Amino acid sequence: MERIPQEIANAIVDPVVFGDTAKLHETYAWLRANMPLAMAEPEGFDPFWVVTRHADILEVSRQNNLFHSADRPTTIVDRQGDAFVRKLTGGSPHLVRSLVQMDAPDHPKYRALTQSWFMPQNLKKVEGRVREIARAAVERFLEKGGTAEFVSDLALGYPLHVVMDILGVPPEDEPRMLRLTQELFGAQDPDQARMMITMMDTEQIALMMKATVDDFQSYFGVISEERRRNPRDDLATVLANATIDDAPISDFEAMSYYIIVATAGHDTTSSSTAGAMWALAENPDQFDLVKRDPSLIPGLVDEAIRWTTPVKTFMRSATEDTELAGRRIAKDDWLMLCYASGNRDETVFEDPFRFRVDRKPNKHLAFGYGAHLCLGQHLAKMEMRILFEELLPRLKSVELAGEAKVSQSSFVNGPKVLPIRYEIA
Ligand code: HEM
Repeated sequence: MERIPQEIANAIVDPVVFGDTAKLHETYAWLRANMPLAMAEPEGFDPFWVVTRHADILEVSRQNNLFHSADRPTTIVDRQGDAFVRKLTGGSPHLVRSLVQMDAPDHPKYRALTQSWFMPQNLKKVEGRVREIARAAVERFLEKGGTAEFVSDLALGYPLHVVMDILGVPPEDEPRMLRLTQELFGAQDPDQARMMITMMDTEQIALMMKATVDDFQSYFGVISEERRRNPRDDLATVLANATIDDAPISDFEAMSYYIIVATAGHDTTSSSTAGAMWALAENPDQFDLVKRDPSLIPGLVDEAIRWTTPVKTFMRSATEDTELAGRRIAKDDWLMLCYASGNRDETVFEDPFRFRVDRKPNKHLAFGYGAHLCLGQHLAKMEMRILFEELLPRLKSVELAGEAKVSQSSFVNGPKVLPIRYEIA
């Protein structure tokens, strides 16, 4: 069996490499060219297949019965961390049980609970509210008067505010939610973790994650209680009163649902929003193009999501022996889907390393594919479209004003510091 050279195997799980976009893409490009589907065994990790080509990621993602999400960890974790999570949970590889960690027959039932809420038809109801939030965010941002740190001055707060609004979290609690999400997703980044993570071992990190999940649970428990007593027309009410086969879902599953929406719903969108601004600052021709023709804004949004691909990886495991791209995959084998690699696959995207607001077609995999295709994709795209519809007419120019930095995480990452200078139109 082909083995990925050790140095490369270590790199594709190393948060520091994820914090260096050029290095990450150099590694993925090497894999696509030389070992597009091969086994890696980074030090301390169980072996897994690394899937880097667009076509193979699609193939795995669309066969949800053959490649499961529930049986092994869905995000990359080392052997010690996996064992420790199982110890904490009494055998499960997952700290929460949300859609992401489910398979059929449960997955479609739980997804159906909120699916229609997230469809474009229903989202029209919240569009006006999202625009209000976007306008306020843009006004606050413009008050910076020409220089800003785009991540903290706009990109972080706006999607957080939208998702908290639909979950019924009052604005004064948003900083707490932001902190908790960053701990869950950015737990590997020293700037974002609860404690100095570089000084912690895997057990301590798993304990920290558990503490974060417990914080989330106690918080949303209160909101659920309230929505059962006083139902409203929001997603929080849908979740608090959800039933499956005529029985209420368990508290643990309701909490897991809140957590997935609260977490998946903003860090990803913030990263893509900041990724868009970074790319526009570096590509003035694309800035001019989209400013001249605002009908290109949806194209800007899609390209920014491809370009940033904030969800870098998800894991699957095989339910039986099978074959993929000429390789024999054994039952229980673990596979890493490298979305950021698939999104620069030169056999699918013309000039994949160019940022083009008019890219067509743009069949990127940033939202995954198949049964787990991102539930929030229409909301995410709507939020970003509205923000740029409000922001771009107000800007005459934008450029980088210092060193931009990307967060260090092998799961969800994106720009964490983006100093820019802009002229108001
Ligand atoms: C699932 C990416 C925004 C909620 C996913 C998956 C990806 C993804 C790759 C697939 C998981 C898998 O295959 O296991 C993104 C990106 C976003 C974004 C790149 C922004 C640009 C959102 C938003 C929400 C959301 C705004 C909700 C408010 C979810 C949920 C799932 C999911 C609930 C689980 C679906 C399932 O397993 O059936 N997302 N997401 N996401 N996303 Fe998103």
